[in-house]
Amino acid sequence: MKILGFSLTCVLLVSLEWFAHGVVGERSLRSLKFQASNLFPESFDWDRVRDRFLIGSAAKGTISELASDGSFKEFVRDEEFAGKVAFGGLIVDSRRNRVIVTVQDIVDWNFSGVAAYDLDSGKRLYFARLGGLGVAEGEKACANDVAVDFKPGNVYVTNCRQNFIWKVTKEGTPSVFVKHETFTSQPSISSDVTWCGFNGIVYEPGKHLLAVQTNSGALFRIGVEDQSVHLVSMKDKLPGADGMVLREDGTLVVVSREKVWLVGSASNWMAANVVDVVPLNATDFATAAAIKKGATFVLHAHLGDLYAKQTRDEFEVQEIEFPAEIGDNDPVWLILLILAFVVVVSLWRFQVSYFYDNYRRKRA
Ligand SMILES: *[C@@H]1O[C@H](CO)[C@@H](O)[C@H](O)[C@H]1NC(C)=O
Ligand SMILES: *[C@@H]1O[C@H](CO)[C@@H](O)[C@H](O)[C@H]1NC(C)=O
Repeated sequence: MKILGFSLTCVLLVSLEWFAHGVVGERSLRSLKFQASNLFPESFDWDRVRDRFLIGSAAKGTISELASDGSFKEFVRDEEFAGKVAFGGLIVDSRRNRVIVTVQDIVDWNFSGVAAYDLDSGKRLYFARLGGLGVAEGEKACANDVAVDFKPGNVYVTNCRQNFIWKVTKEGTPSVFVKHETFTSQPSISSDVTWCGFNGIVYEPGKHLLAVQTNSGALFRIGVEDQSVHLVSMKDKLPGADGMVLREDGTLVVVSREKVWLVGSASNWMAANVVDVVPLNATDFATAAAIKKGATFVLHAHLGDLYAKQTRDEFEVQEIEFPAEIGDNDPVWLILLILAFVVVVSLWRFQVSYFYDNYRRKRA
């Protein structure tokens, strides 16, 4: 009898421990703060082979690495660019062991390109100049974000000043990929960034590109094979949209300064809708999202300080979780809670009958 009581107590304690651990583990989101004087990191991606985030700097034109233990160091310093231009969108192409980054001049807008670096040595593999390509003399251009078609290794780059898309082959040969009148005819609905059109871009393997415009909040689906252009039908647009990343479940994470949207589509991106939203502190000025082992992280770039010519030494990579998905876990905890309750009641009933039996035996 005593052994049974002891076992029940153990089950109860283990259940409670499991319950508590689960709840705490689920809600404590990971944050990696790092010190880097005036880095103003604008873009990042996770390098799964070396378990590190690679981070591009808008202020310094360098790439740094942030390891999972929080250690931080410079990784790529290309003397042609460092301290002279900004690095924009960044993506890791593990298949070809390279990291690809857009190069921009965010002061005069007269220099644009995309560069690839080796993931081991940090050495440059190619630089493709995009500025004059498809851009009339004297007009401004800006290579903003980049997506990789991982199979052939081609990359696609958004031009945020003129709303078209460049393509660069895996050897570094650039061309204009697609220009379309629906790209340039969307009304601006963003109150503060009216000059910035195409921004975030992602590639859905075997299918198409998805690209978003900051000022119009419009999302486009673009065929990689046939260059077909489709304005994704959405009830709520995504004004202020910046970096994007696709998750394994096929949903799209879209970052803006004020919030992160989770966007889903049941029609192969003919139409889409916002499934969930995480509010952000606009002071942190998040610009990009990356996926690490299924978890979603955003980068706090603090570009507001850069624009205001203020200095800043601390930046952060922060894990986020969408509210509906936290809710999804609830039934598990409810079941555990019921289990714990059943155990407590059984234990109590067992104790009562045990004492009652004893009592009767003594009286007899
Ligand atoms: C851009 O143009 C400005 C003035 O027109 C010039 O001073 C600057 O060097 C140019 N930058 C690049 C990267 O070509
Ligand atoms: C946003 O962050 C700033 C700076 O860290 C802080 O002062 C402010 O209180 C935060 N705002 C909100 C709404 O949490």
